[in-house]
Amino acid sequence: MDVKKLIEEARKAKEKAYAEYSKFKVGAALLTKSGKIFTGVNVENASYGLTVCAERVAVFKAVSEGEREFLAIAVVSDSQEITPPCGACRQVLFEFSEDMDVIMANKDGKYEIMKLKDLMPKGFKLRGG
Ligand code: THU
Repeated sequence: MDVKKLIEEARKAKEKAYAEYSKFKVGAALLTKSGKIFTGVNVENASYGLTVCAERVAVFKAVSEGEREFLAIAVVSDSQEITPPCGACRQVLFEFSEDMDVIMANKDGKYEIMKLKDLMPKGFKLRGG
């Protein structure tokens, strides 16, 4: 896995973020097991609660193109701090790939990698019958 490339794709995508209200632009790049990269950006709304995060946009783009297995996601903002995915995005990622790597980068490309299952212990899944 090329961590730097994934961060760079997320950074490029970030410029298309629609963050009119928070002014906090986020870009995500999701690497599938098949080797494809799907990007996403946060899309805000005047009805604030309808905002969708960059990570979920990337997942929904990928799943709607037939991809369900993910190796990693990179998340980038313009902050000096790294940007960890929110709880809702962790749960959505968890649905598909508990073992994936989450690459959290800051504006200068400094990053930290964690396994999704460590960021999301005991994530909810429908198990059994
Ligand atoms: N946001 C994301 O897109 N991903 C994250 O991981 C954290 C938060 C967005 C949602 C909202 O548009 C803005 O950042 C501020 O919360």
